[in-house]
Amino acid sequence: MTDSPALPSVNRAWHLVTRPVGWPKPEDFALVEAEVPTPRDGQVLVRNLYVSVDPYMRGRMSAAKSYADPYELNKPMLGGAVGEVVASRAEGFAVGDHVLHSFGWREYAALDAKNAVKVDPDAAPLSTYLGVLGMTGLTAYVGLLRTASFQEGDTVFVSGAAGAVGSQVGQIAKLKGASRVIGSAGSDEKVGLLVDEYGFDAAFNYKDGPVSKQLRAAAPDGIDVYFDNVGGEHLEAAIGSLNLNGRIAICGAISVYNNTEPAPGPKNLARLIQTRGRIEGFLVGDHYDLQPQFVEEVGPWVASGALKYRETVVEGIENNLEAFLGVLRGDNTGKMIVKI
Ligand SMILES: NC(=O)c1ccc[n+]([C@@H]2O[C@H](COP(=O)([O-])OP(=O)(O)OC[C@H]3O[C@@H](n4cnc5c(N)ncnc54)[C@H](OP(=O)(O)O)[C@@H]3O)[C@@H](O)[C@H]2O)c1
Repeated sequence: MTDSPALPSVNRAWHLVTRPVGWPKPEDFALVEAEVPTPRDGQVLVRNLYVSVDPYMRGRMSAAKSYADPYELNKPMLGGAVGEVVASRAEGFAVGDHVLHSFGWREYAALDAKNAVKVDPDAAPLSTYLGVLGMTGLTAYVGLLRTASFQEGDTVFVSGAAGAVGSQVGQIAKLKGASRVIGSAGSDEKVGLLVDEYGFDAAFNYKDGPVSKQLRAAAPDGIDVYFDNVGGEHLEAAIGSLNLNGRIAICGAISVYNNTEPAPGPKNLARLIQTRGRIEGFLVGDHYDLQPQFVEEVGPWVASGALKYRETVVEGIENNLEAFLGVLRGDNTGKMIVKI
């Protein structure tokens, strides 16, 4: 076993204490102090440096069965994190190694080495393994290229376009020869960023008026692909603007994650008959076979600046919850990350 010389004795971790109904409230959570865990044989102790907060975590706060198990009450919550190994009882892992794992929402984590993936801090900034080169980046890549079967010349519309996934969808589409890329976001500042920095052809603030009207103005010849991060009114508007053989990739539905009543479905599904349109949901977890191709293609774009990214970084484990709530509110531009 190898150890860092001085480790603190106290570990802070966020627990879910009540299952939220509607918007999560601070009382539904607690930042709990416990001893720093001791790694067992085959485990590493990791000091988390960057912790991810993601919209899908809202789903895990509910008891309903889904693709990811519900968070257990009064236990540390889970989520992506990158940290430094500070003690190792596992072959192949040494103190000082950096690893990606799924025991976020806490300062220290003892985990089986088989659940840790080494990352190279010299190859890319550590936080990017949670965002542009990590899960959200891969989500954009597989959703656009595989699920939506993107083709050169397509007109692409993406919602949540200034967020972690959406900002990459639009830029990858441009880099791969989209004829027109349109994005929607929730502030004029974000809309400006899409056009001025990310090279979108058009963008609009969905809070300014009906999405269908704004989309028709931005895409007068219709859209071939819609990458849906939002659901609700956006999805209905996209179906309304879909061209012949159009494709819709359902990635997320953040506009309904805090609903207490089932959201009404799109009223215009029959348009899919006329357009021979296809709507398909996907989960990034089913597509890790594309990870090497993603890293090979997107890594150089990120390194050269051809694909730009932003991160909204909140400091301190005590602000982990506020950062998560901020994602639901739209406080973030690009990937929301907590720096510990
Ligand atoms: N299928 C998968 O495997 C997979 C994997 C990762 C993520 N996702 C989904 O992809 C979507 C984007 O995730 P992300 O990590 O990139 O998050 P993100 O876009 O970085 O952050 C969420 C954004 O959603 C927007 N938003 C919040 N409420 C909204 C509403 N009512 N209407 C429209 N926009 C709203 C906010 O931006 P504005 O300021 O623009 O409102 C906020 O910044 C989420 O739905 C997530 O669940 C799915």
